[in-house]
Amino acid sequence: MIQEEVWLIEPSGPLRGDVEVRGSKNAVSKHMVAAMLGSGESTIANAPEVGEVGITAAMLEALGIHVQINGSEIRIEPGPEIRPRVPDAFTGLNRIPILMLGPLLHLAGEAFVPLVGGDPIGRRPIDFHVEALRAMGAEVEVGEGGVYAKAKRLNGARIELPYPSVGATETILMSAVLAEGKTVIKNAAMEPEVVELALFLQRMGGRIELSPDRRIVIEGVGHLRGASTWLAGDRIEAFSYLAAGLVTGGEVRVHGCAQDRLVTAITTLARMGAQFDINDEYVCATAPPAGLRSAAVQTDTHPGFMTDWQTPLMVLFTQSQGMSVLHETVFENRLVYVPALQKMGCEIEVFDQCLGGPACRYHDTNAKHSAVVRGVSKLRGADVTLPDIRAGFSGVLAAAVADGVSTLRGVHHIERGYHRPYEQFASLGLNIRRQR
Ligand code: EPU
Repeated sequence: MIQEEVWLIEPSGPLRGDVEVRGSKNAVSKHMVAAMLGSGESTIANAPEVGEVGITAAMLEALGIHVQINGSEIRIEPGPEIRPRVPDAFTGLNRIPILMLGPLLHLAGEAFVPLVGGDPIGRRPIDFHVEALRAMGAEVEVGEGGVYAKAKRLNGARIELPYPSVGATETILMSAVLAEGKTVIKNAAMEPEVVELALFLQRMGGRIELSPDRRIVIEGVGHLRGASTWLAGDRIEAFSYLAAGLVTGGEVRVHGCAQDRLVTAITTLARMGAQFDINDEYVCATAPPAGLRSAAVQTDTHPGFMTDWQTPLMVLFTQSQGMSVLHETVFENRLVYVPALQKMGCEIEVFDQCLGGPACRYHDTNAKHSAVVRGVSKLRGADVTLPDIRAGFSGVLAAAVADGVSTLRGVHHIERGYHRPYEQFASLGLNIRRQR
């Protein structure tokens, strides 16, 4: 049996230094799927070395698409024969298979993908994806093991999403670019990673118009070519390392992520008292000598405070003066990691009410989606299992300021979503060791 790797972390004082972030995990895999649609080779540069890329590459290879990964560059070329079935072995690994349905329908007229996984942060339903494909004329059946779909040709349709879902918007984009006629998405997600995907599809020859009020219009074309792109820096990773510097009383300069991708994050941290040095090279945050102040923050769709920023923020709250409030409105179960932080001494209480903002979709449910956090808490090292990617990073931050050694299990989650996190943390001065 393979022994799982654990990280042992000891308190190491302020984390300081420079971090260069690569393209985002949540853009790279979607670009890899989009490249299936081109008649020639596509190249994706500035790709992060994250587990998600390996998983997506293996899925594409299984479908008959050639993938070559050379450091930060990924080359993708559809092969002569497409096998329109993502093997069952990929069940539950990530959210990518569902995005392959549309492209596979274009390439082969039919598709099977195993049921999607992803982090255990909520129900993660796929109904918006399925309904959109049906609206475009596909026959879709959701069975025990996965999703079957069939369509001779997809047709353009008017689709209004019940919530501006990132994944469902991406499914529609990748299905509509080669569909017959015009597709209109109302209430579309406008996250930077979605726009980045739309730009890549446009480079491939897609006709996509981004209109006001979350409306996207796609005119189907008959053919897409391969294209090249350079991915923009990962805003989740950038925020996470800024938080690492702040929570330890240090200073991390983050390179490779443009300021406009962090605008809400920067203002939120500045309100808490963080001081910023921002130029065209990097964004750098420092805590004032008296420490950070508490805050009330609500997560939201773009350009609001993104849900993936809330896990490092939560640790920051535990080390800020006073009571802070966090209201998670995107995923109902995103506070699933709180018990791990509580075990390390974080004083966090979760509630099913909407605290710190107007009522959200979860206001009359039992979802524990609000948290009240007391700072400054004295944290202690503990043996904890990390439930997902973003929670994993927070576990490292808590361990960095805790007294005593922490043993973190489930670190493969962190490596699925962050570019070489072990090396990055070590270079910032974290006392970290791997053990099997
Ligand atoms: N939703 C439905 N039905 C659907 C699809 C979504 O009800 O068919 C709901 C979800 O349950 C959720 C909300 O819509 O409550 C938003 O979900 P969305 O579809 O936007 O999320 P996603 O596409 O599954 C991506 C990222 C997440 C990120 C969210 C929000 C990837 C692979 N994942 O998820 O990233 O938090 O958008 O920005 O791109 C992560 O990187 O750790 C991560 C979880």
